[in-house]
Amino acid sequence: MSANLVLCGFMGSGKSTVGRLLARELGCAYLDLDDYIQERAGMSIPQIFERFGEAGFRDLEYQAVCSLGDSPQRRVISTGGGTLTFPRNVPPLQKNAIIVYLDVGFDTCWERIRNSSRPLVRSNTREALSALYQTRDSAYRSASQWVLPNLGSSQQLAREILLRLAAQAENHAEPQE
Ligand code: S3P
Repeated sequence: MSANLVLCGFMGSGKSTVGRLLARELGCAYLDLDDYIQERAGMSIPQIFERFGEAGFRDLEYQAVCSLGDSPQRRVISTGGGTLTFPRNVPPLQKNAIIVYLDVGFDTCWERIRNSSRPLVRSNTREALSALYQTRDSAYRSASQWVLPNLGSSQQLAREILLRLAAQAENHAEPQE
């Protein structure tokens, strides 16, 4: 079984877009952790925050991570922006996976998220979110095998990940007789 791919990074870094592109190219299953949490809870993320607060959301997030279990097939998983900044979520996601950090820079993320309904965006200033990006950076880095810079587009990021996977598969291939 090939390793799963887990994408992490700040809100707006392109985790879902890159994840969908990768799953399509690799012909494997795709799971968006936020969608999975919403399905399990039967409500949207803003509703979860409103009803249970951020702490309640983090508990549901942890339960979702733990329930992922093993899949016989490679999976591409996009995490939420906070997921890998909580140490308890790291071991279950690291199991049989390559974790990739999309470090596209705060300004790019901000342009994508500034008008969104994400609870943390609605309740924080640009400055506070920029500081959060810096704070989270080291957690993303220490959980990840690959750190990708801003390559200009989500398509480019997906292409780079596919190239790295191909190079890795070649390195691990049995020598031909
Ligand atoms: C969060 C990011 C969101 C979602 C929730 C909390 C965060 O996911 O999980 O609103 O803490 O950064 P995206 O990164 O997909 O927006």
